[in-house]
Amino acid sequence: MKPYVILISGRGSNMEALLAAGLPGQCAAVISNRPAAAGLAAAAARGIATAVVDHRQYPTREAFDAALAEEIERHAPQLVLLAGFMRILTAGFVARFSGRLLNIHPSLLPAFPGVDTHAQALAAGVRIHGCSVHFVTPALDGGPIAAQAAVPVLAGDDEESLALRVLAAEHRLYPQVARWFLDGRLRLNDGRVQLAGEASSPAQLFVPSLD
Ligand code: GAR
Repeated sequence: MKPYVILISGRGSNMEALLAAGLPGQCAAVISNRPAAAGLAAAAARGIATAVVDHRQYPTREAFDAALAEEIERHAPQLVLLAGFMRILTAGFVARFSGRLLNIHPSLLPAFPGVDTHAQALAAGVRIHGCSVHFVTPALDGGPIAAQAAVPVLAGDDEESLALRVLAAEHRLYPQVARWFLDGRLRLNDGRVQLAGEASSPAQLFVPSLD
């Protein structure tokens, strides 16, 4: 079974979705930069090894990233999944895991990088929002996009209702993309995403729907 590692910082609902998906691989460890991350207990309850690399214990970003990389490499993962991992990674770290480092971001990138994406979407007045899974590069939330899922922004939405709708999409999208990768269908080739056997769909999405 291909080993993979999940990095979290908090709740871990995307981690749970990945673990529940029966991926064609073995989750070798869940690693958090925050000792209090709720997802650690959920992973341990599933019998998965957990580790904490607390960023506050390291004097520099480089020192933290070196310790994190060492902990990850112990498990020799073929894939590293950032699942609500809220640290900016150094170029050195990203290069070390290039092509096997995926992140999920709660917006339709390149719109709304960074934090507070749902507030950003509401402030911008977009009618379609969503989430993206992308390969990680040194550019913050800027790496090649593997897949996206869209949801409507509905009248009366607030940050919370919109976040919940996007999160449900995240929980479907991320396991699918991880599965493609572990099945050997998805890869990064010369900085471009390749997905073998990609279905071409003529479907279009209109929000609000047309009369
Ligand atoms: C998710 O919405 C994820 O997309 C987001 O944090 C949340 C973590 O929730 N990630 C980012 O914003 C990364 N820039 P979870 O811990 O329940 O998966």
